[in-house]
Amino acid sequence: MSRRALIAGNWKMFKTGTEAVTTATRLVELASEVVNTDIMIAPTFLSLPLVSQAVAGSNVKVGAQNLFYENEGAYTGEVSAAMVKAAGADYAIIGHSERRQYFGETDETVCKKIAATLKAGLIPVLCIGETGAQRDGEKTFSVLDKQVSNGLKSFDSDALQPLVIAYEPVWAIGTGKTATPEQVAQVHEYIRKLVNDKFGNTLAMSIRILYGGSVKPGNVSEIMKINDVDGALVGGASLDADTFIKIIRYK
Ligand code: G3P
Repeated sequence: MSRRALIAGNWKMFKTGTEAVTTATRLVELASEVVNTDIMIAPTFLSLPLVSQAVAGSNVKVGAQNLFYENEGAYTGEVSAAMVKAAGADYAIIGHSERRQYFGETDETVCKKIAATLKAGLIPVLCIGETGAQRDGEKTFSVLDKQVSNGLKSFDSDALQPLVIAYEPVWAIGTGKTATPEQVAQVHEYIRKLVNDKFGNTLAMSIRILYGGSVKPGNVSEIMKINDVDGALVGGASLDADTFIKIIRYK
C-alpha cells in the first residue's frame, strides 16, 4: 500500500502572531504546486487562528502542538481539542518529548489526549522516542513498546485509522545529530510491527510513521528513502519558509 507523505513543521515556542502569518503566507506561495505530499505547520496556540486564516484554501494545513483532554471546564491555562478544531486546525501533535520532559506529560495523559483529538475530528501525531541514556542502555525498543502500548491503550484499530506516529529520538532533537539510516530503518520497522501486533495488518500498512530529529534540506532525501519512513516532523528547519520548502520538495 502506498502511503501519502506528510512533512510537518513544529514551530515550538517561536514566532509572534505577525511573524507566524508572514512565514505561513510565504510557505503557501512556495508550496502551491506541491502535490502528493501533505504539509502541516504547528504554530503556538495564540497564532493558530491567524495562521489558519492565512493558509485557508491552500495545501498547507495547520496543527496544534498540544491540547488538553477535557472538553471544557475550570482548567486554567488549557485549550481543548474542540477549541483547536474550531480555530481551524486539522492536526494535533501529542506527547512531544519536550512536553514529556518539561510539562509532566505521561503515557496516560497522552492516551487521553489522543482520545480527545480523535473525538474532535483532528489527526493526532503521536510522538515517541528514546533518550540517549535509554538508547545507550539498550532500552530503545522497550521504551517505544511502552509508549505505543500505553499511549494507545483502549483504542480499536478503526478508531486509530487517522493516527500518525512520529519517531523522534530525543538525543537527535535540536542537536544536529541525526539517527543513522540503519537506526531509523530498524526503529520504523519495529514500530510498524508493533502496530501490526496490537492493531492488525490493515492499520499497520496504512499508518504513517514520520521521523523527527535534526531533519534538514541536506539529509531529508536520504531519510525519506528509508523503508517505513512516510514523512518528517521538523523543528528548527521549518521556521523559515524558504528552508522548509526544500524539505517539503525532498524528491
Ligand atoms: O518536533 C520536531 C522536533 O522535535 C525536531 O526538532 O529542531 O531537531 O528538527 P529539530
